[in-house]
Amino acid sequence: MNFVKESVNQQPIVDTVFAIVDRAKKAKEQFGDEAVVDATIGSLYDESGSLVALDTVFSSLKSLDNGVLAKYAASFTGNPDFKKKVEEWVLDGNCSLEKEIIATPGGTGAVGMTVSECLEQGQTLIVPEIAWGSYNLMAQMQGVEVEKYELFEGDHFNLGSFKAACEKVMKKQDRLVIIINDPCHNPTGYSLSGTEWEAIVEFLNACSKTHSIVLLNDIAYIDYSYKGADAKSYFSVFDSISDNIVVIVAFSLSKSMTSYGLRCGAAIIMAQKREAVEQVKTVFEKDARATWSNINNGAMAMFVDVLTNHKEEYEKEKEKYVSLLKERSELFMKEADEAGLKYYPYKEGFFVTLAMDNDVRDAFHEALMENHIYTVKVNKGIRVAVCSLSVGKTKGLAGKMKEILNGTYEKI
Ligand SMILES: Cc1ncc(COP(=O)(O)O)c(C=O)c1O
Repeated sequence: MNFVKESVNQQPIVDTVFAIVDRAKKAKEQFGDEAVVDATIGSLYDESGSLVALDTVFSSLKSLDNGVLAKYAASFTGNPDFKKKVEEWVLDGNCSLEKEIIATPGGTGAVGMTVSECLEQGQTLIVPEIAWGSYNLMAQMQGVEVEKYELFEGDHFNLGSFKAACEKVMKKQDRLVIIINDPCHNPTGYSLSGTEWEAIVEFLNACSKTHSIVLLNDIAYIDYSYKGADAKSYFSVFDSISDNIVVIVAFSLSKSMTSYGLRCGAAIIMAQKREAVEQVKTVFEKDARATWSNINNGAMAMFVDVLTNHKEEYEKEKEKYVSLLKERSELFMKEADEAGLKYYPYKEGFFVTLAMDNDVRDAFHEALMENHIYTVKVNKGIRVAVCSLSVGKTKGLAGKMKEILNGTYEKI
């Protein structure tokens, strides 16, 4: 019996998030909301435990004509006004490279397309060792190998490990395709400094003398940076890339607009030379046509309307939640510091991740659940989703986790 291609890995998806989300939900039904700390959910929730759906966004969507919602998009690469707005909103005038934009189904579409079209089967993709799980799955589905770089050396980016991973891969293939999830890295909440970005670009420029380079910058959480508009100023670092580098910025409306289910985002393809941008765009356009055909017209129209006619209101509304994230994460880290609970260097974003090796992590994760605390296991850590954890539930959590961790160490 063989109905799918032999080369594909047929193991079912091991979804470490949804299974635990479900256990947390059942615990709440059994023991009551008060008794349970649910730090599993990776979407933004307000203080009363409801999913945040920004009013500015959904009033705009609902005010669109039925015809707009019903229609196909104007092109396989997305509507022209959407592409223009994405460029304005994301790059904010910070990058003067040649560019083209392709609308995609969320950030997932932009990352997936890069993995499938920029690497041959059997070649290697470079990803962070602590990362959003989909990168590995995308590689697996394309028959692409994965090389991982360590993210941290102490409290800063591990440039040495990044370089070593690139050098290793350069020995066996003609190109580098690299994912950097920044700012607001999922799941650690780290953001590279301007100097770290400069060092990365300087190194890649040197590599590009012998190898073509595609740098995928996944910015899914950028609009939750604590730096506001300044979060986008680092894009100017890409102005100094060499001719043999293409940067693809994967943008997502899922978090920026709290519109996860509308499935809209974009790949911003950038390079010094027009020919380089055109080569990638030509292939991505065909991939788009062959895979999803075109993108949700209503979502694109909503994005344009919000940022053209309701920008201030939208920014004000979103800012409330950015401040809330800051309050929750600061409280958690303050208490973690007091208790001596170790976490990766968090700067901003949806998650704080506790640092530990995987043996301790597995036992600790179980022990947390015995104490009605639900979290998500990630490589070398435990993810605490401050995006969905109220201030009230955050209070006291780090201390309690540290006690449970001490108990775990005694048992293993
Ligand atoms: C790091 C990262 N990149 C990209 C995405 C893409 O999300 P979407 O496809 O909904 O835009 C996510 C979603 O969780 C993410 O965490």
